[in-house]
Amino acid sequence: MKIFIDSSIVEEIEQAYSYGILDGVTTNPSLIKKAVEGSKGKIDMEDYIKTILKVARGTPVSLEVIGTTYKNIVSEGIGLYKRFNKVAKNAVIKVPVNPAFTETDKTHFDGIRAIKTLSKRGIPVNCTLIFTPEQALLAAKAGAKYVSPFAGRIDDMLRTNMKVKFDKSDYYPAEGMDDMEDNGIVSGIDLVRQCVDVLRYYEMKTEVLAASLRNPRQVREAALAGADIATLPFSVIQKLLSHRKTYEGMESFTKDIVPGYKQLIDRIKS
Ligand code: E4P
Repeated sequence: MKIFIDSSIVEEIEQAYSYGILDGVTTNPSLIKKAVEGSKGKIDMEDYIKTILKVARGTPVSLEVIGTTYKNIVSEGIGLYKRFNKVAKNAVIKVPVNPAFTETDKTHFDGIRAIKTLSKRGIPVNCTLIFTPEQALLAAKAGAKYVSPFAGRIDDMLRTNMKVKFDKSDYYPAEGMDDMEDNGIVSGIDLVRQCVDVLRYYEMKTEVLAASLRNPRQVREAALAGADIATLPFSVIQKLLSHRKTYEGMESFTKDIVPGYKQLIDRIKS
């Protein structure tokens, strides 16, 4: 499974890339807002995005459109791609699966239509805000390179419906709780699994990018569900190697080093 960082904070992205295990970056307007609000000086947005593209060292960086109609999504997608793909040949355009705000809006298919147009022009699209496998299927049919099911937000909604108090990073059982479900989806990881199953069944090339993951256990479960990619906040990446027994093991191995072994290591290390 590939690992992306879900962030727009350059320092975080740089640090995570220095670990040598990153395969891409996802941004969204809320993440950019967080980066802007947390920065000391004024940000030149164009330079800022170019910096992220360069830090990502040729791995894909998703940049989201803000338009909510077919025309605007397409023109923004083309504009973003033209302006930023030349920086490091790694721009991906993020398009909502459905840009409507209500059930009665007339724009339900504008995202899908825009994905088709952008994909036909060879622009890679990450289709975002996926909450059902059928949304993922239509995005894949329209040519999206990636589909992003939002696991954590499904869990948030289920817990809110159940009136369960929770912190954003709390684990939610993949098998669901107390028969609570949303339209046949029992958890965020269940959504990821169902998206993977549908796209694999029809041998579609679109990659499932598990998004909105909030803790290491969800990352494991996304991997077990067969997600192609997991995009993770920096805080979750940092927790991926933690284990009490690993620290204990380090402590006891370090205590047990005999002088002869230490001398040998000192002699041969380059
Ligand atoms: C990634 O592409 C998504 O925008 C992101 O993972 C959403 O995460 P959140 O639900 O924690 O905001």
